[in-house]
Amino acid sequence: MRDKPPAEPPSSEVTPEKTYLRRRELLKNAGLFAGTAVAVAGGLHLLGRKQTRPMERFVPDAGLVEQPVAQAMGPFDTDEPRTPYEDVTTYNNFYEFGFDKNDPARFAHTLKPKPWSVVIDGEVHKPRTVDVEQLTSWFSLEERVYRMRCVEAWSMVIPWLGFPLAALLQRVEPTSHAKYVAFTTLLDPEQMPGQRRALLDWPYTEGLRLDEAMNPLTLLATGLYGRQLPNQNGAPLRLVAPWKYGFKGIKSIVRISLTREEPMTTWRLSAPREYGFYANVNPSVPHPRWSQASERRIGDFERRPTLPFNGYAEQVAHLYTGMDLRRFY
Ligand code: MTE
Repeated sequence: MRDKPPAEPPSSEVTPEKTYLRRRELLKNAGLFAGTAVAVAGGLHLLGRKQTRPMERFVPDAGLVEQPVAQAMGPFDTDEPRTPYEDVTTYNNFYEFGFDKNDPARFAHTLKPKPWSVVIDGEVHKPRTVDVEQLTSWFSLEERVYRMRCVEAWSMVIPWLGFPLAALLQRVEPTSHAKYVAFTTLLDPEQMPGQRRALLDWPYTEGLRLDEAMNPLTLLATGLYGRQLPNQNGAPLRLVAPWKYGFKGIKSIVRISLTREEPMTTWRLSAPREYGFYANVNPSVPHPRWSQASERRIGDFERRPTLPFNGYAEQVAHLYTGMDLRRFY
């Protein structure tokens, strides 16, 4: 994103999308993650609505089986084809592990997502420091199939597993002074060797306005494709706000602080003329160095038009009533 044009498209962008054998891919990993996946499958009724979409499940003793019957989708899910697991986990931005798109998949094995402590503090009545496994156990996990649009003008469709950030925030009881939520990634050059280079101002930080954080679309993700989050995608906990450019989706979170003031964010600090706090997907506001009008969906040959708010205007446009979205980018 910085001082360098977007990398060459990966072969997946120019190859017609192959028939993706998710089942085979998942079976390959079933042994590794069976315990988690059973727990996840058990929790998939979720938040007052029935478990709603087809997904693979682990069945004890039987390994992984695919749900044969298509079920109705959840209200926020896209039915667009999902980006293959292989692409979602090998074409990444995670500068703590390098600059190239495949660096995170190659080098993020040094990250140790267990045990993992998360601090929730600031303007809350009930600050907590909690292990991520305990934190996750407080909530039912649900699958959400969201579009993700990177500011570099590529996009994916990803079936996340996670829980609404709102559920966590309600639990710690924001004070009446809380206006923003600030997120911080782990700072540990031993685990994240890229932090030895001054590429960005470490640790990576991000932020949302409190009402954005409370929006039902906003997730804390712990997995994707029915499995634990791979390190390169931000294990063990990352933010997903699908109407914003992908860089808002901070990975490997260790701290969530509620604040009175708008928090500084990594990309804004690094290139204030290029990246703003809001970073809502907006095809009519070009990045200073390239257009945002269209995007390349990973796996597609043709570009497609980018949608305002990445297609989630119905859910979030009201958050910005009265704001000049050209100025507050
Ligand atoms: N979080 C941290 N800690 N470090 C990063 O470099 N990159 C961001 C975001 N979260 C990044 C991060 C950017 S630029 C994007 S596009 C998304 O992660 C990419 O998420 P993905 O690799 O899971 O597709």
